[in-house]
Amino acid sequence: MSPTRILTGITTSGTPHLGNYVGAIRPAVAASRTAGVESFYFLADYHALIKVQDPARVQRSTLEIAATWLACGLEPDKVWFYRQSDVPEVQELTWFLTCVAGKGILNRAHAYKASVDKNREAGEDDDSGINAGLFMYPVLMAADILLFNANKVPVGRDQIQHIEMARDFGQRFNHVYGEEFFDLPEAVIDENVATLPGLDGRKMSKSYDNTIPLFVPRDALKKLIYSIVTDSRAPGEAKDADNSNVFQLYQAFASAQETAAMRQAFADGIAWGEAKQALFERIDSEVAPLRAKYEELIARPADIEAVLRDGASRLRARYAQPTLTRLREAVGLRDLSLASTGTAKKAAKASLPLFKQYRESDGRFYFKLVDGERLLLQSVGHESARTAGQLIGRLKQQGGAALHDAGNAAVHLGDELVGHLHEGVDLVEVVEALAQLVAEDA
Ligand code: TRP
Repeated sequence: MSPTRILTGITTSGTPHLGNYVGAIRPAVAASRTAGVESFYFLADYHALIKVQDPARVQRSTLEIAATWLACGLEPDKVWFYRQSDVPEVQELTWFLTCVAGKGILNRAHAYKASVDKNREAGEDDDSGINAGLFMYPVLMAADILLFNANKVPVGRDQIQHIEMARDFGQRFNHVYGEEFFDLPEAVIDENVATLPGLDGRKMSKSYDNTIPLFVPRDALKKLIYSIVTDSRAPGEAKDADNSNVFQLYQAFASAQETAAMRQAFADGIAWGEAKQALFERIDSEVAPLRAKYEELIARPADIEAVLRDGASRLRARYAQPTLTRLREAVGLRDLSLASTGTAKKAAKASLPLFKQYRESDGRFYFKLVDGERLLLQSVGHESARTAGQLIGRLKQQGGAALHDAGNAAVHLGDELVGHLHEGVDLVEVVEALAQLVAEDA
């Protein structure tokens, strides 16, 4: 079984706040460490342009968000971490999907419709002030997802409709071009993840201007926490934990035990100042080490740039470019010197041998070489997806001739143990399979 692919994008239009951290970053980093998944996290900077047309802000937000995810523990050699605009295949796929997407479906997208409704209320033209980027937003998002055949897409509720649209566009493309090019993704909504209240008690959100930025300096954090709106109950008066922003924020950072103790303190009439002090210390104890890391990272933007570029370039070579080659062929953007092909060519392609990469429950990275249903070769484990991918690259480049059987079905490339032949498989079959791949690439 190939691993489940989990993919999510973060629009680079703001500064990460505590709500983003608790609602998205912290659970995503934890999930990225689960065995048996291949994770994709990317900075959706093309999406940012729909809303933000201040270039300095787009750049700054991209830097801040990248540094935040890295500071919070995302490991760029274990997950795919990249910037959307470094993968131009996203744009090409967007166009292919645009040409199968029903315009009527886009008319019904919530974000677009909300803008139209606003215009109507204001007595304006339906589409007044609405750019076509907002209208096409769901197609771009579908391309992000379908390009990598993501299975699960963790998102907020407001994004569910977009995932449904991605399924729809993917299905249409599969149907029009007569093959299962795309797996259909599913939205994942984590019911356990808290929505944090902001300073004014409404949901913490950039659009309400009530956020606590994740990495403000310690004293600024304290100031912000002390400015959280509370009721006017005096010290000694019992306080209602369930309706308190201070308590809800505390709960999002505290253990079950700490939370129970705080609930008791509320009932016993803890003073607001004291509750806020406890909240501040609790948040700061979790955030302070991350903040230190963040400050280190953000002081070296060239290093972050290099991490992002490296992620995108490996990802393009591994998935995006081969996929687009296949899709261009599928839609008829083809080499004119090759005979026009119908299904015959498709059948031949489907039966090509294939390297499949995956991660095991031991946390290591593996690949296998398969020919149709037949497993030929099973690799040894690698520390990172990169070293596994590089070995595949060398196998493809050097072909089967460089392989030798070291006995006990162990297959070597030079001095390196690649893996083991599957039971009943002869090395000759592997050599032949590689020859087919090399011929295909040429
Ligand atoms: N639209 C998403 C948001 O605003 C961001 C995003 C862009 C995304 N592309 C994506 C999320 C692909 C998941 C998958 O939250």
